[in-house]
Parts: sequence; C-alpha cells; structure tokens
Amino acid sequence: MQKDSGASRREFVAGALGASVVSMLSPGLPAWAAGAQRSLKSIAAEKGVLFGSSVGAGKPGTLSASFDDAGYLDILKRECAVIVPENELKSYVIAAQSGTYDFERGDRIAQFAKDNNLKMRGHTLLWNRVEYTPKWLLDHVGSLSAPAAEQFLRDYIQRVCTHYGTQIHSWDVVNETVAPKSGQLRDTPFTKVLGFDALRIAFEAARTYAPKAQLVYNDYMSWEAGNEQHRNGVLKLLEQFKAKQVPVDALGVQSHIGNVGGIQDTQHQPWRTFLDEVVAMGYKLLITEFDVNDKDLPGDPTRRDAQVAAIGKGYLDLMLSYKQLDQVLCWGMVDKFSWLQNFSKRADQTPQRPTPYDDNYRPKPLREAIAAAFESAPKRG
Ligand code: G3I
Repeated sequence: MQKDSGASRREFVAGALGASVVSMLSPGLPAWAAGAQRSLKSIAAEKGVLFGSSVGAGKPGTLSASFDDAGYLDILKRECAVIVPENELKSYVIAAQSGTYDFERGDRIAQFAKDNNLKMRGHTLLWNRVEYTPKWLLDHVGSLSAPAAEQFLRDYIQRVCTHYGTQIHSWDVVNETVAPKSGQLRDTPFTKVLGFDALRIAFEAARTYAPKAQLVYNDYMSWEAGNEQHRNGVLKLLEQFKAKQVPVDALGVQSHIGNVGGIQDTQHQPWRTFLDEVVAMGYKLLITEFDVNDKDLPGDPTRRDAQVAAIGKGYLDLMLSYKQLDQVLCWGMVDKFSWLQNFSKRADQTPQRPTPYDDNYRPKPLREAIAAAFESAPKRG
C-alpha cells in the first residue's frame, strides 16, 4: 500500500490546527494551503484503502486532457496512490485502425505513474458496447466464426496485457456488458458470435497474460430506484462466473452517483442486499469511478457543494462499511475536466461541480467528505 513519504511540516501544521479547523477554512484557502491537509491517500492507507483518480491524455484543450494540466498533475501527486487512464486503454484509442496498435497515450500516463511511484489500474479490455468499439473491429468480429472470434479476442488481450506487464495491478477486464433495462447481456458482435463465452474468454486470457493482476467486472448498476433489473442482471452474471469457474476477482462499482437529486434512505436496503450477495459469492469490491452528478441540485455553489458532499459522504460511508472494498478511485479530481460537463449538462447552464476540487484547484466540501469517510471507516484486515 502506497504511503506518504514521511510526515511533512504541512501535515504537522494540519495536525496542530486540527482537521476540523482546516476544514472550516479550506473553501477560501489559497492553493498552497490545500497541502496543509493530510493527503487523501494517506488517510485512506491508514484504513487499508488505496485512493486515486482517473486522468485523461485526450485531445489538448478538451475535457479529457487533464494530463496536460500542471495543476491537475500536482493534485494527483499529492492526493493519489493510484491512477487510471480515463480513455487511453480503450479499444477505440489503442486499436482505432485495423491492424495497428497505438499505445502512445497510455504509455505517457504509465510513465508518469512510474515516475511518481503511483500504482495504475487498467480500463478496459472489453468494453462490450458497440458505441465505444471501433467500427472496423465490430465488422471484423461479426464476420468471424466462433473459433476465429475467440482467437481474435485472445490476441487483443494478450497484446494489451503484455504491453503493460505487471505495472497494471488491477484490470477492468469486461466493462458494462449487462443491459440496464433488461438485465440481459448486451447484444454486440462479441456476444452474437460467442455468447457468454466472450466474457469467459476475456477473463481467461487476462489471467493468462496478466497473471498477477486483479481481474474486475466493472459496471454502473447503482443504488437508485430504477436500477433493479441492472442489479439483478449483474448478480446473475456474477453467479454464472462462479458456476463456470471464470477467473473474476472483484466487482467494480463505478459509483457515478447523485443523478436523481439525492439518495433516499429507502434505497439503502436494496443496495445493501445487492452488495451482501456479491460479497457472499466471494467477490471483492472496488469503487472505480466515483463522482457526484449535481444536475438536479441548487444553482448556488455553496448550497450545491454542501449537498454534493453530503450525498458523497452517505454513499462512501455505506460502501466503506464493507471490508471487502479496498480501492476508491474518483472519475476526475477537478471539476473542469469532468465528463459530466458534456454528458449531463445542467438546465441553468452552470458547470457541474462533481469532483473534490474546483476549477482553481481549491479543495471543496466533497474532498472533506471523502477524507471524513476514510477517517471513520473500519480498518481493513
Ligand atoms: O477523440 C475524440 C476527438 O478526436 C474529438 O475531437 C472529440 C470531440 O468531442 O471527441 C474525442 O473523443 C471523446 C473521447 O472521450 C476521448 O476524449 C468522445 O467524444 C467522448 O465521448 C469520450 O468520452 C468518454 C466516455 O467514457 C466514452 O469513452 C469520457 O471522456 C469518459 O469519462 C467516459 O468514461 C466512462 C467509463 O469509461 C466507463 N464508465 C462510464 C464513464 C462515464 O461515461
């Protein structure tokens, strides 16, 4: 587990002031003073939890280009023990063109992780959705026999896994293969040709070519009402993995929360029941893509930030009560780089505030909520 390198003077100051005083002061503090707080990675590490975030090396000037931003990288170095490339290991980046592999963007992030002693997660080997798969690849797989499609999938996974070797300690092997409305497997060329075997082959190939990595099924089923079929479909899939001895170690709970204006207490129990069933099957849990969508929250930033923090804290408290959960990754650390600015615009046209830091790199109440959730979490064994 990654730890801060020694107790810094800043941490001493924070300790002397007391966390609550720093908390009260932090919304107005200049950027330098943010360092006066103990890092999220160190608070998490004390409980046996690895904390981190995504980072994107997309087209410069776009939302997915946080890797070009010095302020963003400073936050990663200060707060995170693990990073995950937001888009750079997806097939539409690595294999945009038939017959060629392009690891350039992923490699830049991997080098940054090495240079700064950060762990790295991999996202994702098989995003089983046609919208996010290159057309040539869909057409090609759709034209193959089952044995040839199996070979193609194995070859792709071999190529990507061996490129990053042991640097990636945890892979989202399959992402979002359950259709939320029906709970059935999504209809894609992979599932048309291979059925459930597409998933089995993906995990088996990952185990062969990344034998030390944790292998994760990652999805966005959530605790909100309307997710019942999605949750049931994921449970059914996890049961099938067990029954067929598919090497899956953990469920990645994406945790893009908050998008229906807050979580009702009545939704806690069905969610706990879902998580109970997952861990009873022997799976570990991770939060892979945490953010709080504030689309339906008030316009006033102070009130909004307070509600975002409260929703985030409630969610993290519940999740961290499961000792099987030992990694928490945010889907971005600074609001201006969040995918939600494009994918979920607010009616009042103001930018979303879904991450721990504002656009001037100042910590927000959500950052304190995350810290508080780690502080009150039970220690993992
Ligand atoms: O690369 C093109 C660029 O050439 C073009 O000019 C630009 C115009 O918009 O688009 C660029 O592609 C964008 C791509 O990110 C890379 O930057 C796509 O439009 C944009 O749709 C894409 O969005 C990503 C999305 O996944 C789809 O891959 C988001 O950044 C990323 O945050 C989001 O992440 C997903 C997880 O992988 C899975 N779970 C849900 C999560 C949020 O949707």
